[in-house]
Amino acid sequence: MNRIPVHLDFDTGIDDAIALLCALLSQDKVDIRSISAVAGNVPLELTAKNTLDIVCAMGQDIPVIKGADKPLRRPLHCAISHGKSGLGDVVIPPADREFDNRTIEDAIYETACDAPGELVYLGVGPQTNLALALKKYPDLKDKIKRVVIMGGCLIGGNMTQASEFNAYVDPDALRIVVNAGIPMTMVGLDVTLKTELPLWVIEELKKLSNPYAKLAVRIMDFSLWRNKEFGFDVANIHDALAFCTIVYPEVIQTKAYYVDVETEGEITRGMTVADFRNVCPDKKPNVDCAVEVDVDGFWNWMVNLFRSAEK
Ligand code: RIB
Ligand code: CA
Repeated sequence: MNRIPVHLDFDTGIDDAIALLCALLSQDKVDIRSISAVAGNVPLELTAKNTLDIVCAMGQDIPVIKGADKPLRRPLHCAISHGKSGLGDVVIPPADREFDNRTIEDAIYETACDAPGELVYLGVGPQTNLALALKKYPDLKDKIKRVVIMGGCLIGGNMTQASEFNAYVDPDALRIVVNAGIPMTMVGLDVTLKTELPLWVIEELKKLSNPYAKLAVRIMDFSLWRNKEFGFDVANIHDALAFCTIVYPEVIQTKAYYVDVETEGEITRGMTVADFRNVCPDKKPNVDCAVEVDVDGFWNWMVNLFRSAEK
């Protein structure tokens, strides 16, 4: 089967890290052309370090590019649930190579030009990097087959009552992306909050000895512990579900809506506003929004993926 050419953009972070491990384990299905980091969960220096450290620790030589260190217009707002480093208390050996020193705009554009009309772009942090590339290279929109994001929400945020974290941090960037005219899948909180990390998944991964599973267990353990500190007894691996939809699209069901992004609202900054009733007849649906998820199917996919790395 032809592998899907992908570019992966992370604000690594706990759930980004799990998504990255899943992607690195899925290279029979995806051809990871390039990886980038963006400021989000923690500042860029950390998201970029975490991303490159993980890629190198797993013995991969995929180029990693440092992207934007702040949103297009707003000051950076970081998360608190990923620990100071962005990977909690998990320490990974430092990378044994440097970042790819291209600008993020050039790197994304060149990756798209190398797979024109075929590239799938996964963005699981604030969408600053893709927005910058679209601003510099307007014809980029014609070269990307689909953008898949973890971000947004149809009903109910996690940063404010209206908006999800990635959308809240850089609403201007997300607005550029949703209006770029590129086929797009929004894997938002409506589905990612349904995939609460079950203890049986961690128990299954603890039975494995491969480095991917061992690192995932350390990260998941931290996430469960950290969420308990906040009074939650669950952890959501949001970003891994977004990646999963690329290689296992039937894991979600989507509905196409016209979606735009609130960039000025005091209460609704970053709100992904869907036209549920087609009241804007001149606005065609532009986003395939995930509305249902096969929760068991997702977790079984993940456990089997980590099992596949056993020698
Ligand atoms: O709202 C959840 C999203 O924000 C996830 O991508 C998480 O990593 C943070 O970036
Ligand atoms: Ca993320």
